[in-house]
Amino acid sequence: MPDGLPAEIDLSRPSAARVYDYFLGGAHNFEIDRQLAEQIASMTPNLAATMRAGREFLRRAVRVLLDAGIDQFLDIGSGIPTVGNVHEVAQAANPEARIVYVDIDPVAVAHSRELLAGNERATAIRADLREPKLILELARSSGLIDFDRPVGILLAGVVHFIPDVDRPGDILAALRAAAVPGSFLVVSHSTFEDQPQEMLDAQRLSARTDTEITLRSRAEITGFFGDWTLLEPGVVHMPLWRPDSPADVDERPERFGAFGGVARYDHAG
Ligand SMILES: C[S@@+](CC[C@H](N)C(=O)[O-])C[C@H]1O[C@@H](n2cnc3c(N)ncnc32)[C@H](O)[C@@H]1O
Repeated sequence: MPDGLPAEIDLSRPSAARVYDYFLGGAHNFEIDRQLAEQIASMTPNLAATMRAGREFLRRAVRVLLDAGIDQFLDIGSGIPTVGNVHEVAQAANPEARIVYVDIDPVAVAHSRELLAGNERATAIRADLREPKLILELARSSGLIDFDRPVGILLAGVVHFIPDVDRPGDILAALRAAAVPGSFLVVSHSTFEDQPQEMLDAQRLSARTDTEITLRSRAEITGFFGDWTLLEPGVVHMPLWRPDSPADVDERPERFGAFGGVARYDHAG
């Protein structure tokens, strides 16, 4: 076991968080992760760009939330901290902003804690999205999130790791139920819609990690926002969600394989 890593990590299987870190150019990955990443990359040379597009979507969404006055963020499935993390974007705009990162992967959490050492307004906890009540409790007891005030709930690239049998709709409903009006929900999620066969094959390789991906339709992904009000332009291929500049939008935005959207809770009940 390499130094400084939690004993419970399984180095015999690739991990989604570490594969993702490798694609983003991070250093928090092992040979087993790099092998899977290279295999995926050889099938879909586009996938690293997809992951960066996901990160860019998240950054743009966080900026919109900051402009709306959100100063506390619950980022679930936050991954291994690489460049342009939520706390960096948020605290650059508002030094008082508070962030709780949540991930199921012990390596992601260990590295997040390392990176956040000395940052009193951000923390990382290890928990499973399939236990939303526990996540809410841990976020509350961290002292960083006050659910009596509007909160930004971020689920970027993570709900597709929840198979239908684990009832992702109920999980999202439990998270939404904890928030007061004025709160926001950000979701990005892989899809089979408009995808070429090689992308679908590459996604199937995720079955080799502990976290297999379930691709969903735009309608299913839209359902995760419940009765909250979708911000324009709705649930769209990620690069089409409020690009910084029209020049940033790829000729084929569907090639990034995921939809993104942001919604606001406008009314009680
Ligand atoms: C593709 S990464 C997304 C990282 C980050 N949100 C972003 O958009 O840049 C997905 C992350 O979700 C985590 N994850 C997968 N299943 C999870 C679960 N059931 N609960 C919490 N985190 C989970 C993985 O460990 C991984 O770090």
